[in-house]
Amino acid sequence: MSKGIGKQHFAEAWEGLTAPLVHSGKVRAPAPNTLIFVVVQRCNSRCNMCYIWENKNPPEVSVEQIREVFQRDREDFQCLQRLSITGGEPSLRSDLPELVQAVLAGTPNVKALRLATHGMTPDRNLQMIQRVWEVARPAGVKQFTVQVSLDGIGEIHDRIRGIKGGGDRVQETVRRLVEMRRADPALGVHISTVVQPINRDNMTDLQALARSLNVPIVFSPIVTSGDYYNNDSIAPSLSLTGDPVAQQSFSQLAEKTPGNLKFYYRDMAGMLDGAPRSRICMMGYHSMVLEADGDVHACVNSEGLSFGNLLTERFRDLWWGEHAEELRRKLHMDYCPTCPSMCYGSRPVSVGEVFTLAIDKLAGLTRIAPDSVLNGNESVTDAV
Ligand SMILES: C[S@@+](CC[C@H](N)C(=O)[O-])C[C@H]1O[C@@H](n2cnc3c(N)ncnc32)[C@H](O)[C@@H]1O
Ligand code: SF4
Ligand code: SF4
Repeated sequence: MSKGIGKQHFAEAWEGLTAPLVHSGKVRAPAPNTLIFVVVQRCNSRCNMCYIWENKNPPEVSVEQIREVFQRDREDFQCLQRLSITGGEPSLRSDLPELVQAVLAGTPNVKALRLATHGMTPDRNLQMIQRVWEVARPAGVKQFTVQVSLDGIGEIHDRIRGIKGGGDRVQETVRRLVEMRRADPALGVHISTVVQPINRDNMTDLQALARSLNVPIVFSPIVTSGDYYNNDSIAPSLSLTGDPVAQQSFSQLAEKTPGNLKFYYRDMAGMLDGAPRSRICMMGYHSMVLEADGDVHACVNSEGLSFGNLLTERFRDLWWGEHAEELRRKLHMDYCPTCPSMCYGSRPVSVGEVFTLAIDKLAGLTRIAPDSVLNGNESVTDAV
């Protein structure tokens, strides 16, 4: 895997340099290069910070509907380069490979695929990952990264996820993925940890574990909201704002982390100290979310703001339609200032960030490539 400066580096640098201008609404929103697809709103976990598992029979688009939408709007989706599958628990959809295939058939330039999973059902998870990879590779995907959630060592994970023995099974899933990665370097794996009061003292141990498993790990502070995670009724018990330990942990992460993520961690340290989010977020511009019912959102954290529904409307009418700019303005005003999400965490969003990364790169300290199109062994991408 080359670590030199390539086309992708320039694309990301350009994205970062122009981000403030695009974000200000002075130029037309670009067509997105990243699609986050929430394929299912069901789950067999019992997490204390995400209540998707409480949904009863939520609507789910069919493979046929997805195929139709992505053929119909094929022209608009030429710019998509990354597809990220999340849920709910994606492995619960037994037609997941067909669903991914239907998206990829209408998105010929997607080269990077990512799948988020709780990893607590190793056999099923691994089987599903293999089946997805079998359809994605022939469709032109060059890199497949699996993001596995691990929120603590042993009992801490189990308390958070509400599943006895769940943490051990996650570790089994990660180990088996690492084995697969040995034979197939196009497969990446990383761990994602949501930090909340129960596990904020467990971060160093989790880093050590990730190191021993030879996988990268990313941390993000918990999001509390009535949208996607639906945990606002218990927000005070989950919140880390004002917690000096968590604040210090994120400061240390910012100091030690190379690449784009350090900017995100620095911002999170500030937010945990009570400051509003300072980094702009390009969700709703370079990235979009497609929900399991066909609704299009800027991000999962703003489900109250819908661009419209792809099952009944064309993508171009939603993304650049009459009320799209007003929606983006509301997003900046009402949602972003208090949102600690990592949705766009690992990509640069200012001239300063691009320059710092370029200098790091030239000094041989790090690289500025979009992590999701490189090898998950070496680096990580935004968490969903
Ligand atoms: C909703 S889950 C879907 C994928 C899969 N079920 C899983 O748990 O990894 C996607 C990501 O959101 C994270 N997450 C869950 N609750 C969260 C919260 N309240 N705030 C921030 N991230 C959260 C999960 O840890 C996971 O990394
Ligand atoms: S975080 Fe993932 S595993 Fe937990 S309830 Fe939400 S979707 Fe399910
Ligand atoms: S900061 Fe949060 S609410 Fe704002 S666009 Fe990004 S993910 Fe969405």
